[in-house]
Parts: sequence; C-alpha cells; structure tokens
Amino acid sequence: MRRKLAAGNWKMNGTAASLAELTAIAAAPAPSEASVLICPPATLLSRAVSAAADSNVMIGGQDCHVASSGAHTGDVSAEMVADTGASHVILGHSERREDHGESNEDVRGKAVTAWDAGLVTVICVGESLSEREADNTLDIIGGQLAGSIPDAATGDNLVVAYEPVWAIGTGKVPTLAQIGDVHDFIRMRLERRFGEGVGRTVSILYGGSVKASNATDIFSVSNVDGALVGGASLKAADFQPIIDALDAS
Ligand code: 13P
Repeated sequence: MRRKLAAGNWKMNGTAASLAELTAIAAAPAPSEASVLICPPATLLSRAVSAAADSNVMIGGQDCHVASSGAHTGDVSAEMVADTGASHVILGHSERREDHGESNEDVRGKAVTAWDAGLVTVICVGESLSEREADNTLDIIGGQLAGSIPDAATGDNLVVAYEPVWAIGTGKVPTLAQIGDVHDFIRMRLERRFGEGVGRTVSILYGGSVKASNATDIFSVSNVDGALVGGASLKAADFQPIIDALDAS
C-alpha cells in the first residue's frame, strides 16, 4: 500500500534554535497512518537527525550533487546527506530549477546518485503560471516526469511532489479539481511507465500554500497521498495540524 507522507521543506530557513520546532513535532504522539519527514537546511541535518532520534520523524536533505564526490566547492553529495543519518532528499524543486538552472536531466542524474547512496528521492514537478494559462500543464508535467525520474524507480525509492510554481509561497492554491486532474495524470504516467504494481505504490504529494485550513480538503482529493509543505512546516504549531489532517484523511 502507498504511504501517506507529510513532508516539511524548510528551504533556506533555520538555525540551531529552530530545532525546538522539530523536537516538538517529534514529541507529539506518532500518527497512526501518516509518516512525517522534515527537510532542514544541510547545516542542520546531523542535529536534526539527533533531535528526531527515537521518534517517527524522518529527516531529509533538500538537494544533492550529481557526482558522488570531488572538486565541487560548496556542494553536498548524496553520500554526505545519507551519512548524517537522513533518509530522504528533495530533488528538482522549482526553486533549484529556477535559481540553479537545473534541468530534468540534472535531476535524473542526481536521483541515480541519491539511490546509490540509499536515499529516498522526493522528485518535484510543477508548471509555471504562464504554462498553466497556455493550457500546457499536463504536457509540462509529463515531460518533467519522463525526464527527471530514472528507470529504476520503485515505491520504496521514489516520492513525487506536484508543486505548481505559481502556488508556492503565494497563498494561491489550485482548485481541488485541478489538483485531482494533475495527480490522476501523474498516477497514470507512473503506472504506464513502471507498471501498475510500482506505479500504484509511489506516493504523490501536493505542494504549494498548504496550511491547516486547506489541508483536509486537499487530502480528500484522489491520488493525493500527502503534502510537501514550505512556510507552514517551519513552526510545529502550524505543521502539526497538517500532519493530523493527513492522518485522519
Ligand atoms: P509553501 O508551502 O511555502 O507554499 O512552499 C511549498 C514548497 O515549495 C514546498 O517545497
């Protein structure tokens, strides 16, 4: 069966003091059905793993380099992420695609390296506002899925996150029907490429302005298996109700 996953992406936010928020999430009663993942900045990974020890909370990185080691000043390898005790890594977030010019091919290469290091990859896809307005959403998503996910995907090593770029940090959320259309399409493409057995077991998260007030509605949509949450994952008081809503969905 597919796992429900509430994932927090702290982006470039958080210092040692922020670990108190993680500790609060880790101290809450474990959800019965939902898994919880928090992806702090690389500087906090080791300490986050320690803070989450003996809890159900998993820790992930936000990116890794395509190479497993070498002369790449300032970069972090998948092996380094895994070495902190983290279990997951986000790849291909639209902010990486935009800020660092990451292509589908780059993301695909990083995913292979991450899998070699034993990490589960959360691969992000999503259309821009102009692409949606031009009615190109499914073409864009289809291309990103085909280009960014390596052939060896399974329900154990891959999570897909659908994050419309125009919904990230804007307070704008697609209609439930729009979310459902894209998630159904992603499921169909995963089943077609990897077979029903694998395609059915990959969790598909929605991301973009998820908060406590809209989480229950979003989690009611078909093929939405959880959320990738930015701003509302930074404070335990904001993130915990989203975890609870997913657990109850
Ligand atoms: P917000 O929840 O802040 O819109 O961010 C979503 C996101 O980009 C998560 O990866």
